[in-house]
Amino acid sequence: MEGVVRRCRELARVSEEEGRLTRWFGGPAMARANALVGRWMGEAGMVVRVDAAGNLVGHLPGSDPEAGTLLLGSHLDTVRDAGAFDGPLGVLAAIECVARLRAEEVSLPFSVDVYGFSDEEGLRFGTAYLGSAAVAGTLGPETLDVADARGVTVREALAAFGPGPDGASRRGERLLGYVELHIEQGPVLERRDAPVAVVTAIAGATRAEVGIRGRSGHAGTVPMELRRDAACALAELVLAVEAAGRAEPGMVATVGRLTVEPGAPNVIPGAAAASLDVRHADDAVRTTSVTALRERADALGGARGVEVRWDERLSTPAVAMDARLSDLLAEAVAARGAPDVRLPSAAGHDAVALSVLAPTAMLFVRCAGGVSHHPDESVDPADVAVALDVLDGFLRRLGAS
Ligand code: GLV
Ligand code: MN
Ligand code: MN
Repeated sequence: MEGVVRRCRELARVSEEEGRLTRWFGGPAMARANALVGRWMGEAGMVVRVDAAGNLVGHLPGSDPEAGTLLLGSHLDTVRDAGAFDGPLGVLAAIECVARLRAEEVSLPFSVDVYGFSDEEGLRFGTAYLGSAAVAGTLGPETLDVADARGVTVREALAAFGPGPDGASRRGERLLGYVELHIEQGPVLERRDAPVAVVTAIAGATRAEVGIRGRSGHAGTVPMELRRDAACALAELVLAVEAAGRAEPGMVATVGRLTVEPGAPNVIPGAAAASLDVRHADDAVRTTSVTALRERADALGGARGVEVRWDERLSTPAVAMDARLSDLLAEAVAARGAPDVRLPSAAGHDAVALSVLAPTAMLFVRCAGGVSHHPDESVDPADVAVALDVLDGFLRRLGAS
């Protein structure tokens, strides 16, 4: 559907950074994105609010107050230098489905809440799922006390939206499920020549921040054997991360951010830091590899006389999608005449955080070349049209079941 694709591109102009798309939790661009998407929710007939975790929520009441609520949506934050579709497509598609129901005067027995989650990527705090974890009621002190690069904690950042994240929790409510439409972010649908897939499971992930403290000094006068160079220690660890990822079939391990202090050509680095991201479908394989990397970092620190700090920011298990909701999605795919493709997700999604709250299901949409977390992200409007019909068919089926 061209309207949804056009809106994703319009939203992509709302950014913290000139010339590229970057929206982090709690920034001015996020507030502008919430205002724009909130306007579209209002035009679709929803009652709009921002909850205590900064999530944008559009509410469509159902015809039966006892029937409970179905959650739809995805995230509105982005990675740095992002594409236009990772996250927003799921939010804007859900709004479009609500608009369609209203235009056809179809009323569902259950209420629908469309979420635009405030933080899924974790760009600001090195975590992930802040918005959806608040809704699931699982934000604990280990996350609330994490600080961003300026020393502002998650707890302090959340204070902008209300007295505390508990206000965003939907625990104890009658929730029928959470269904998220998202681009595939990989090449399989393109290879299978299919527009959409029903997701079977989402791989587990660990994220950590590794900090190394050595001793800075004069790059000309300190002999090599007397140095405690933090960047060199970190460089060894980065290659160990790559080797760990390569050694284990199905594992991916990434250092996506490196910083070196003080950062001058003629000063030996006294401090260095890196982000770590490790994923595998098998939780035991992932956690064993992360433990081995941590031991390797400690050993490196001892051998090089540098201090190593290891700060785990996220550890989520692999999550299976709900069979009943997935079957309903698959029925809607078949009714639209699209092939029945089932795919696991190697990327993380808000569905991970929400899986402890309600049954979850996901629909993937083919994206060009499988490219994602990159400004070249792109979708074919014809595929989005299929996905909208599937989500619409799913809602009507669930309403009738
Ligand atoms: C989210 O995009 C993730 O998988 O990192
Ligand atoms: Mn992403
Ligand atoms: Mn995403």
